[in-house]
Amino acid sequence: MNQNFNALKKKILSHEARITIIGLGYVGLPYAVEFARNGFKVTGIDLNEHKITALKNNESYITDISSEELKDINGSGLISYTSSYTGIDNADVIEICVPTPLGKSKEPDLFFITSAVQSIKEKISKPKLLILTSTTYPGTTREYMVSTVADDHYKLDTDFFAVFSPERIDPANKRYKLADIPKVVGGVTKLSGELAVLLFRQIVKDVVEVSSADTAEMVKLLENTFRSINIGLANEMAIISHKLGINIWEVIDAAKTKPYGFVPFYPGPGIGGHCIPIDPVYLTWRMKLYNYRTRFIELATDINNEMPYYVVSRLADIMNEKGKSIKNSKIFILGVAYKKDVNDLRESSAIPVIEEILHRGGKVAYHDPYIGAIQENGVNLKSVKLTKKALSASDCTLILTDHSVYDYPWIVKNSKLILDTKNGTKGIKDSRIVKL
Ligand SMILES: NC(=O)c1ccc[n+]([C@@H]2O[C@H](COP(=O)([O-])OP(=O)(O)OC[C@H]3O[C@@H](n4cnc5c(N)ncnc54)[C@H](O)[C@@H]3O)[C@@H](O)[C@H]2O)c1
Repeated sequence: MNQNFNALKKKILSHEARITIIGLGYVGLPYAVEFARNGFKVTGIDLNEHKITALKNNESYITDISSEELKDINGSGLISYTSSYTGIDNADVIEICVPTPLGKSKEPDLFFITSAVQSIKEKISKPKLLILTSTTYPGTTREYMVSTVADDHYKLDTDFFAVFSPERIDPANKRYKLADIPKVVGGVTKLSGELAVLLFRQIVKDVVEVSSADTAEMVKLLENTFRSINIGLANEMAIISHKLGINIWEVIDAAKTKPYGFVPFYPGPGIGGHCIPIDPVYLTWRMKLYNYRTRFIELATDINNEMPYYVVSRLADIMNEKGKSIKNSKIFILGVAYKKDVNDLRESSAIPVIEEILHRGGKVAYHDPYIGAIQENGVNLKSVKLTKKALSASDCTLILTDHSVYDYPWIVKNSKLILDTKNGTKGIKDSRIVKL
């Protein structure tokens, strides 16, 4: 009879389990809110004091949770926020949602996971379920998290339970909210998996249990590698179609009418965000240990990474046709967020596009309703107002993100020339529009 397992199980089923979420970003904050919404007592920990202050003041910094929603949930008294790990041993469940970026040489940077796990290890002694949610390569939960936390006095399956459970949140997706997306769970042990399945059944409709934490880690990498490769294919098809004088957007729209065997993916100025450009590289790095080169993955990554430069070369071509060069011309960029309707600039292809235009001597101004300023890689710009004058005074309008709030017919009417990399101007017929 495993007393700690039974006690945790009872607390989970009665919603008396105290949940701590570490890392209150695009993934962690929605979890903290969802657990509290379902009656659990939640503590959110984030080392970023600005975020803690904002949350305490009912100010949301992510587009998927409104400040009103936050105010409601804060008012329930079920959720609290802190930048300290001091009270962490009171938690019955700890879920880690910290970033997993790439280092300077494009190797996995597990610094944030390492520091979170070390902080937990220093403070815990009571029984717990530990959940790693940050995307990472197969083996991290088992080899790193468990071996750091376990010792002679704190044993796996006796004192603590450990799982990997990836997140599939799609920022700005209005159709699939956190509770609608099936949750994959893989336990390091059978009992660990069982507890996590019970826990997530309390807040999401469907839980999919796989046989191990390594499998769950691989599921996430397969999903995001699938996207990276298919976006790479769409990007290559866009380059091919342009050379053949064919409109790729029309091709994809027709191809997707096939009721089976085809999933539409769309080209664009590159890939961005904290997942698609990074996660496949985690797998590539991991496989080097096995002396295996992930050719397919690397090819897609190469094509996607080249897209910002392809876009600028297309920009140069269309301006050339008008007797202009990028040098000394004014380029007005619409949208710099990595995808539509989000306020996330991480890994956005707008950065290399802007760098390349500046490198060629062009002048850049941008507008993005969600990104007030850019300070990255030496690019320092502030979003300017989207006015008739700003558009008409520019030599070319470059659409990099197809935000829904844009009035595309008005944009086209007031621009001299438009390079549309996202088909935001779909359905508008005007000789000034050039599509990717
Ligand atoms: N953003 C997405 O759409 C998405 C989707 C699925 C999975 N993921 C994965 O989820 C993980 C988190 O991504 P995110 O987008 O939420 O990142 P984020 O940067 O928005 O949030 C992470 C938070 O963790 C905090 N943090 C860092 N180290 C900490 C520590 N030691 N203790 C406490 N807080 C700490 C940071 O201050 C930050 O607020 C990543 O592994 C990512 O790959 C992200």
